[in-house]
Amino acid sequence: GKGNHRHFMLKEIFEQPAVIGDTLHSYLTPATGEIVLPPMPFDVAALPKITIIACGTSFYAAMVAKYWFEQVARVSVEVDVASEFRYREAPMPEGGLGIFISQSGETADTLAALHYCREQKQHIVAIVNVPESSIARESDVVLQTLAGPEIGVASTKAFTCQLATLACMVISFARARGAIDEAEEDRLAFALAHVPAMAAQVLNHDEAIRDLAHAIFEKRDVLYLGRGTGYPLALEGALKLKEISYIHAEGYASGEMKHGPIALIDEEVPVIVIAPTDRWFDKTVSNMREVMARGGKVIFLSDVTGVDAVGEDAFAAIELPSVDPFVAPLLYAIPVQLLAYHVAVLKGTDVDQPRNLAKSVTVE
Ligand code: M6R
Repeated sequence: GKGNHRHFMLKEIFEQPAVIGDTLHSYLTPATGEIVLPPMPFDVAALPKITIIACGTSFYAAMVAKYWFEQVARVSVEVDVASEFRYREAPMPEGGLGIFISQSGETADTLAALHYCREQKQHIVAIVNVPESSIARESDVVLQTLAGPEIGVASTKAFTCQLATLACMVISFARARGAIDEAEEDRLAFALAHVPAMAAQVLNHDEAIRDLAHAIFEKRDVLYLGRGTGYPLALEGALKLKEISYIHAEGYASGEMKHGPIALIDEEVPVIVIAPTDRWFDKTVSNMREVMARGGKVIFLSDVTGVDAVGEDAFAAIELPSVDPFVAPLLYAIPVQLLAYHVAVLKGTDVDQPRNLAKSVTVE
């Protein structure tokens, strides 16, 4: 049941500290910071390339992982949505790795893309929430997310558990490839082990975010901006809002603003800026200032450093815990989920069963 919560979606958002912890514990020993994945039937150090395929929110987890694998494990990564990838006839280097991310494990396009990668002689790893699913059955290695059943059509806890699993995979691959030393491995694993506690802190902003929803629910368009791993989070925030509140929302890489979308900005457009203090922070802030100069109402998501520096200039700021930028995507997912949820509740939509959508897309 929904417990004390009004909707499954809210219950599932609030389960995140626990289920991220469960998922991490299946790969990470917090006491030692050691990360152990199931054995991979290939030489991780020799992988020529990784291709990550998924749909919807699972695809945004793939995008975050691309930044991680490239930066931390120094391996070349391609990502695509399954419905495009399966028909592209992409040439693939023999012995590469295909990673398939799916909550349900039954998404038709993702499964078809897996079949294509198999033909192209790729090794296949699945990250799924349902271990007896089709995608799991057809993979060489299954990394299960321990999110538990996800009922709300809008994916929330499955996403952060996918990120937790991918982060463990990245650290393990980085070590195997000699891209990081033991001290760096410990540092990243330590940051990851603290995510459940930090996620619980983020949930304390629920009421502040509910108040902010009043500034959004009557708007026609909303923009989400971010750079680096904040970019897929911007896309995820926009997807969450559009699917349950039916407000038109778009996510953009901040640096793309001046290549077109800034023309949309006026006093009527709320702009959600995802800006942890990471290597991209200053650039994101300068894009945010361009938006504010045109009257855009900025809702600024950052940590204490970011909020102290520029929070006052924004329409509103939410101060999240300061964490290693590596794990920031797991935390910044939560305020965008809560914002979409509260806007949808104000609009009176069917939050758990939004119109036109199915939980599992088993047709093309
Ligand atoms: O079960 P899957 O992870 O393969 O599903 C993929 C998408 O259909 C799913 O993430 C969808 O985009 C959600 N409704 C997003 O909230």
